[in-house]
Amino acid sequence: MRKSHQVLLASVIGGSLLAASAGVYAQQAAAKPETLIKWRQSVFQVIGWTCGRVKLALEAAVYDKDEVIKAATALAAVSNSGIGSLFAAGTEQGKGWHDTATKPEFFAAGSKAGEIAGNLARETNELVKVANTSDVAAVKAQFGKVTATCKACHDDYRIKL
Ligand code: HEC
Repeated sequence: MRKSHQVLLASVIGGSLLAASAGVYAQQAAAKPETLIKWRQSVFQVIGWTCGRVKLALEAAVYDKDEVIKAATALAAVSNSGIGSLFAAGTEQGKGWHDTATKPEFFAAGSKAGEIAGNLARETNELVKVANTSDVAAVKAQFGKVTATCKACHDDYRIKL
């Protein structure tokens, strides 16, 4: 194949890949409110699962460092994944897996809500770092900071079920 054809082909393939990924974003933006609410409730379920694993490991008679690294890494990945986009306009009310438990104040809080979500990402990133050491007391202290961010947000923005 001549070089100019290769370049052309590469740009066509590249172009269609770009178009395909733009399509994926458009699809996400156009996701039904019900789907977005399901996704955010599912994300928080995963967050709950991973936190539960760290808590169990910290309470166990024998500390399992690998288990804590696995759970903390998954927790940090989800916390850094852009959860804010799942609170798009139009999802203030409605049902995902169940009626949304997000208070209307969360949508009105703007940058303050983003700041609290940012705290979750920061503290979970730190948890991964500490989990990679063998300092169990430090893991416990950092896990306390993580759960304080959960509580701070839930106290203000989550409807008590
Ligand atoms: C920035 C705010 C915020 C932070 C931080 C936060 N949450 Fe939440 N959480 C919410 C909101 C809002 C809901 C309700 C979602 C809905 O129903 O629309 C929720 C729902 C949940 C649920 C219920 C999910 C379901 O089945 O509907 C669990 C479990 C949960 N959070 C755990 C946690 C844990 C554990 C942490 C900390 C590691 C945490 N959350 C941090 C705001 C937050």
